[in-house]
Amino acid sequence: MTQDQLKQAVAEAAVEYIRPKLYRDSIVGVGTGSTAALFIDELGKIKDEFKGAVASSDASARQLEDLGIEVYDLNSVNELIVYVDGADESNPQLELIKGGGAALTREKIVTAVAKEFICIADESKWVRVLGDFPLPVEVIPMARSYVARQLVKMGGRPIYREGVVTDNGNVILDVYDFDIPEPRKTETAINQIPGVVTNGLFALRPADVLLLGSADGVKEIHPGMT
Ligand code: 5RP
Repeated sequence: MTQDQLKQAVAEAAVEYIRPKLYRDSIVGVGTGSTAALFIDELGKIKDEFKGAVASSDASARQLEDLGIEVYDLNSVNELIVYVDGADESNPQLELIKGGGAALTREKIVTAVAKEFICIADESKWVRVLGDFPLPVEVIPMARSYVARQLVKMGGRPIYREGVVTDNGNVILDVYDFDIPEPRKTETAINQIPGVVTNGLFALRPADVLLLGSADGVKEIHPGMT
């Protein structure tokens, strides 16, 4: 199977996974990226079974609206029954690297609100130790050089993602060659640097379940299972 077919398979599996949890007043949290986009398309097919969605990016909000799904501001929502999103890497604890699509801050906020975080990914995202994928860090523009110097002191090699401005008006530093044996500690430490909005480690709030697309089918993985 191609990577795109694996992404399609997990998008369909995610809809089947959440469907029994939905009721007519449910608001679904929806992520960003190519896998999340396939999920949104599948969600459109059952749009009469829930009330609407909160999106983690302007792009996902537009896609939802185009499908006729009502998009809500997170501030007007009391409860998100689930949040479904892709990832750039997942380890067996379902600690993630996210932010390849530069939507990490809103993704982290929506994740924090959701009762259940369902990660969907193809098997290329499965790793034992996080860090092969460069870690995205969203930074207030005036702090870019300062934050980069601090990240170098922490052992990383930050590269400015040229030409990218986040939905929040900020910039992204991608940190290469970064060892992340203790993701929770690294997530906390980077977020202490003045000027950092947040970083793409989702370890303090990992996923609750990972639907992983593989040649053997979609595997349902819970933290620490393998
Ligand atoms: C966007 C993200 C995405 O979930 C992540 O980059 C995975 O994207 P894709 O599904 O296209 O591989 O974190 O900020």
